[in-house]
Amino acid sequence: MGIQLGVNIDHVATLRQARYSPAPYAFNAEPILADAAQTVERAGAQSITVHLRADRRHLQDADLPALRKVIRTKLNLELGNTPEIVAIALRERPEDVCLVPEHRQEVTTEGGLDAAGQRSALEPTVQAFAAAGIRVSLFIDADEAQIRAAAALQAPVIELHTGAYANAADPAARAAELQRLASGARLAYSLGLVVNAGHGLSLANLPAFLAEVPHLHELNIGHSLVCHALQVGLENSVRQFLRLIEAPHA
Ligand code: PXP
Repeated sequence: MGIQLGVNIDHVATLRQARYSPAPYAFNAEPILADAAQTVERAGAQSITVHLRADRRHLQDADLPALRKVIRTKLNLELGNTPEIVAIALRERPEDVCLVPEHRQEVTTEGGLDAAGQRSALEPTVQAFAAAGIRVSLFIDADEAQIRAAAALQAPVIELHTGAYANAADPAARAAELQRLASGARLAYSLGLVVNAGHGLSLANLPAFLAEVPHLHELNIGHSLVCHALQVGLENSVRQFLRLIEAPHA
């Protein structure tokens, strides 16, 4: 099986909240998240990703059952490790969850989870999801200590944070980040972890990433794909990302 694409549709909810935050389910509230999920699936993406943040800045609790009803691929729920959100995830039973660090003031997820430093806080959460049959991923930087900590926690999946690669402004920094991601992916794979990746991936930076980083299972892409959709439409945008991901990487 080739590399899978999970599309993060949080920005569709962001657009709805920009106008309809007092009444996100009013009869005229748009865009409709479930419609976007169906379009993304029709275009061939293998997963729908959303992040239920503690401040509910984009996704709202009632979006989860609404998405559940229409999603035919799988739902990947990103969440911070807080009792409130973990309880919601256990109730809604997405196929996948991805534990991410979450800070109230950040614009988006900054940096990976400190799996090495927060082992005792993460352990019960990872175990609770495993017991519920929900596949847990840890969103971490491609650092040896973090990857080994994820394996020690018995999380079956990691998602490598590609933000530093995406934001690297010069070729030397980009090359260094690619090497870090590639060795991280190799180490994780050798430890039996499934390797996903995401954050800041775009049509522009994917080719070099795919050529250098081995053992990838799934990419989660949101911002750039939704931005590109403003030019070409959501279905075409998903198809263009898929074409790139499915092309031979050399
Ligand atoms: N993966 C994770 C764990 C994330 O937190 C995010 C951002 O919500 C993404 C992937 C998608 O990142 P982007 O929107 O930059 O493509």
